[in-house]
Amino acid sequence: MLYPHLAERDPEIRNIILKELTRRRHGIDMIPSENVTSVAVLDALGSILTDKYAEGYPGKRYYGGNEYIDQIEELARERAKALFGVSHANVQPYSGSPANQAVYMALCNPGDTVMGLALSYGGHLTHGLGVNFSGIYYKPVNYKTTPDGYIDYDGLEALAKEHRPKMMICGTTAYSRVIDFERIAAIAKSVDAFLLADISHIAGLVVGGAHPSPVGHADVITTTTHKTLRGPRGAMILCNGNPSNPLKAPERTRENIPSLVDRAVFPGLQGGPHNHQTAAIAVALKEASEPTFKIYAAQVVANARALAAALIEKGCSIVTGGTDTHLMIMDVTSLGISGGQAELALGKAGITVNKNTIPNDPRKPFDPSGIRFGTPALTSRGMKEAEVREIAEYMHAALTHSEDEVFLNDIRTKVDALATKFIPYPELDPTV
Ligand SMILES: Cc1ncc(COP(=O)(O)O)c(C=O)c1O
Repeated sequence: MLYPHLAERDPEIRNIILKELTRRRHGIDMIPSENVTSVAVLDALGSILTDKYAEGYPGKRYYGGNEYIDQIEELARERAKALFGVSHANVQPYSGSPANQAVYMALCNPGDTVMGLALSYGGHLTHGLGVNFSGIYYKPVNYKTTPDGYIDYDGLEALAKEHRPKMMICGTTAYSRVIDFERIAAIAKSVDAFLLADISHIAGLVVGGAHPSPVGHADVITTTTHKTLRGPRGAMILCNGNPSNPLKAPERTRENIPSLVDRAVFPGLQGGPHNHQTAAIAVALKEASEPTFKIYAAQVVANARALAAALIEKGCSIVTGGTDTHLMIMDVTSLGISGGQAELALGKAGITVNKNTIPNDPRKPFDPSGIRFGTPALTSRGMKEAEVREIAEYMHAALTHSEDEVFLNDIRTKVDALATKFIPYPELDPTV
């Protein structure tokens, strides 16, 4: 039986978890920031490590009894360093947003100018949105994409020269093309700005060799661990140099970035690290260093390319005309529906995507013109180009019959048949 202790203590919660597991088995999740972790990652996440307090860093804790927690955090740090090719890793950020917040705190003062890609053009909240800490406590300047959807590097350069930001951020949430880290780093250097590369979305592609790495270009790198990297929810901050652990805050120089980052995470922003999460990150990093992960990363991109090509062949409009990564944005305007209606129709057909703005979106962010979707999770389930082309058929059919409940239900039956051939977490059977 699955979750026997929950069955005894809290059948209500267990039942809801089983319903969620069943939903996943019978549908196809295509939200590009989601994935299917290994059951080994889940084992670490559900372990007794959650009980322990370990404020501080390995060898320098404010609580006793941390000899094994130290070993776990050391392993996670060493694996992160080896995998990404950096000399320092902080694996304690609770998630991607706090990781970015720590970098702001490490490298900028409140009121400093920071420059990131605008949310409505594919950037993240934490890259300088007005209602986010990054736009409230710092002065954001947002660069955009050109109308065809590519990052406007010339515009970015002009803005950097005009505003001379303290920190520039590259990295995206809803962008399907390779990011030219080298070019952005040259611009940052020319205006003496720190460069943060937030590779939350593409970290798995980077370590799998399917996207260039920002290492050697960016001063500091943040990433979530739960997207293409296929780990637990969590984040890491990666950089080069060695932390000196000074008693006083070190000067804001490039050499001091490791110390600045560590101090910003703890005691700057966080208390005790989530040790169960750290252990699960370590497991995911081990998995990502195995040769099969390279095959996975390549297949994620091959699947996304095949999906984009199949949709374009059916007349769908994909922003930039395709993808180099794990995701794509579709403009659904020509289908006579909004992104919200598209999300809803696909949901009824058993395919989960999210509504999303398109470049220069004439509609409002709550009701945009596009949808965002991708292939990390379905690739983890073992789907390849043939399945992805079948999914393109179902997506197109659902989007062109978005009001027809009977038709959508019929598609759902077909999606179900495909989904149940590629069950996520095959080790976890909700029916026993
Ligand atoms: C580029 C980028 N940075 C940061 C984050 C924030 O991560 P979290 O949701 O874990 O705070 C995300 C999440 O979508 C992201 O896409």
